[in-house]
Amino acid sequence: MKLANAGIKTLPRHVAIIMDGNGTWAKKRGLPRNFGHRQGARALKNVVLFASKIGIKYLTVFAFSTENWSRPREEVDYLMKLPAEFMRANETDIHKHNIRFACIGDRSRLPEDLQKTIDKYEKETAENDGMIFIVALNYGGKADIIQAVNRVIDEGVAEVDEEKFERYLYTKDMPDVDLLIRTSGQKRISNFLLWKLSYSELYFTKTLWPDFNKTQFLKALKEYSNRDRRYGGIK
Ligand code: IPE
Ligand code: IPE
Ligand code: MG
Repeated sequence: MKLANAGIKTLPRHVAIIMDGNGTWAKKRGLPRNFGHRQGARALKNVVLFASKIGIKYLTVFAFSTENWSRPREEVDYLMKLPAEFMRANETDIHKHNIRFACIGDRSRLPEDLQKTIDKYEKETAENDGMIFIVALNYGGKADIIQAVNRVIDEGVAEVDEEKFERYLYTKDMPDVDLLIRTSGQKRISNFLLWKLSYSELYFTKTLWPDFNKTQFLKALKEYSNRDRRYGGIK
């Protein structure tokens, strides 16, 4: 596909997505919330493969926040089952597209079988040199910074600068986020990648995550390519 024809001149290297609105999507149809999450996983598959095809280098998605544990047990259980199901169902496509899988967040609180599945897919896709697909699970921007500070202290490091400090974050292997997309009309960060979002372009859409598709994605990319990034300087 020709991006130029879609009005896209420059691509963001790193896109992050807050996949919000699954519950609302289900409610609108009189369905239980978990149906929305299941449909959200389908939308994610299409977005991952499309992003990889058009040449996005890093895609990070928010799948479960440190605050999401406060949801009803049944919903939390389902959200803990979905990632492994997603990986199993899309394993072949992920390899075919040469995608590398990675996970960020505190894994120790995730169910043991999910931890094993994550380890397995990280290892199995480690040699893939296409897009890096990062799933944030039990991730919180504040928790990330705190675990980094604690590791700095544990290692007896006396002083850090930005570059040194970043290496302690879960997000150490990724560049800063260029474009953050949040679906479902809410305009907030909800404790996502605080450090890596410092100079990101923000894109909010009312579309609910299960309805987010290629067309929506291209629209966000087009708007990004028309943004004027300044980093504190002048034009
Ligand atoms: C986002 O959809 C998915 C997760 C937080 C896991 P929500 O479940 O937050 O959907 P809404 O915001 O209630 O519509
Ligand atoms: C953010 O969505 C977390 C994920 C998408 C995983 P939430 O639905 O949890 O955020 P709030 O509560 O509306 O801010
Ligand atoms: Mg929500």
